[in-house]
Order: sequence, then C-alpha cells, then structure tokens
Amino acid sequence: MNVHHAQLAASAVGPAQYPSDGLPEVALAGRSNVGKSSLINKLINRRNLARTSSQPGKTQTLNFYRIENRMYLTDLPGYGFAKVSKTTRAKWGKMIEEYLLKRDRLKLVLHVIDLRHPPTQDDILMYDWLTHYDVPIVIVATKADKVPRGKWQKHAKVIRETLMARDIHPLVLFSAETGMGKDELWKHILDRLPA
Ligand code: GTP
Ligand code: MG
Repeated sequence: MNVHHAQLAASAVGPAQYPSDGLPEVALAGRSNVGKSSLINKLINRRNLARTSSQPGKTQTLNFYRIENRMYLTDLPGYGFAKVSKTTRAKWGKMIEEYLLKRDRLKLVLHVIDLRHPPTQDDILMYDWLTHYDVPIVIVATKADKVPRGKWQKHAKVIRETLMARDIHPLVLFSAETGMGKDELWKHILDRLPA
C-alpha cells in the first residue's frame, strides 16, 4: 500500500483515550528497541512520525496512527526493558494487556523480533500469551540489514523454532533501513482488514 495520509490520532494510557470511530486496528508488540516505531515509519513512508530512539523505552503510551481513514497502526511500549522501574513496567504491562485482550477491533498483531538473535524469554512469553488468547499474529523479523543475506533463512528458522511458532503464523523478514519486507507485510495487513 502506498500511504499518503497518516497522522498520530491518539496517545492513550487506557481505553477512555482509544479512538472511537470504529476503524480496524493492527498493533505492534515487541521488545524495547527492537524497532517497532521504525517499522511503522517505514510502512507509511514517513521518516519520524513515530518517534524512535537508540535508547530503549522511547514509546511509553499506546500511539494510534490513523492511516488513510482506513485503519490504525497501534504502536505499543516495548517489553523486557530492565532499566524502567518495576512500577512503570507493571503499568505498561497492564496497559498493553488491557488493549490486546479487550480491543475487539484489533485485527492483527505484528510480533516484532530481532532477526540477529534468538528470541528472548520475554519474546517467548509474549508469543505464548498471544497464541493462548488466539490473537492473529504475523511474526516480523526485523533488522535484516544487520544479518548477512546468506544467514537470513537460518536465523528465521531459529526464531520459529525458539518460539515454537505455529504454521499458521507467517514470518516476514523486514528491514526499516532498506524497506525489505514492506510489500509482503502490507499484504498480510490488508488481508486482515474488512474489504
Ligand atoms: P521502544 O519504543 O523503546 O519500545 O523501541 P522501538 O521498538 O519502537 O524501537 P525504535 O523503532 O525506536 O528503534 C530502536 C533503534 O533501532 C533505533 O536506533 C533504530 O534506528 C534502530 N532500528 C530499528 N529498525 C531497524 C532496522 O531495520 N535496521 C537497523 N539497522 N536499525 C533499526
Ligand atoms: Mg517505539
């Protein structure tokens, strides 16, 4: 999809602040600093609409990006960031869980994983949790530009095996640097939206 209109429509810490116009939503879950916000920017061809940082813990609220009056991409705070306080982590956890569990117009979760390394314990927990609640998932293995092309498939296999990923969950190799995987990912997203 070639996106012309994208805007930050809401930043929410709870349901009262979610958008209320009923458009379908696709959320991004993943470790802090894995590249969720960068992935959004790449999908919508904007350099820094979603704020990114080399420091983990940048995104601290649920940020709803409205795309072409058709859908929202929901950027979530990352998990597994050791440096935020226990209380803050618990708060973020509750915020994310509340959204992922109760949002009926959520059509798909992009579970973003770093292609360079095997999934962490937190990645496995998140994947198990999402599958337990039957949330539709596409696994996105990002930062592919940091892995030599000859090793892409091997790393992808390690990710699938470590997560014990189900066959119904596709894995897309992605890079926010090069744009690799962008069209494939859009196809998966559009597949999930009402026609
Ligand atoms: P939080 O908001 O803290 O949860 O992080 P995030 O997952 O939103 O990560 P963000 O998009 O802010 O990116 C973190 C860092 O990784 C930044 O320095 C990005 O430039 C870098 N980055 C993200 N995606 C890629 C990628 O595909 N390739 C490379 N080389 N760097 C990337
Ligand atoms: Mg972010």
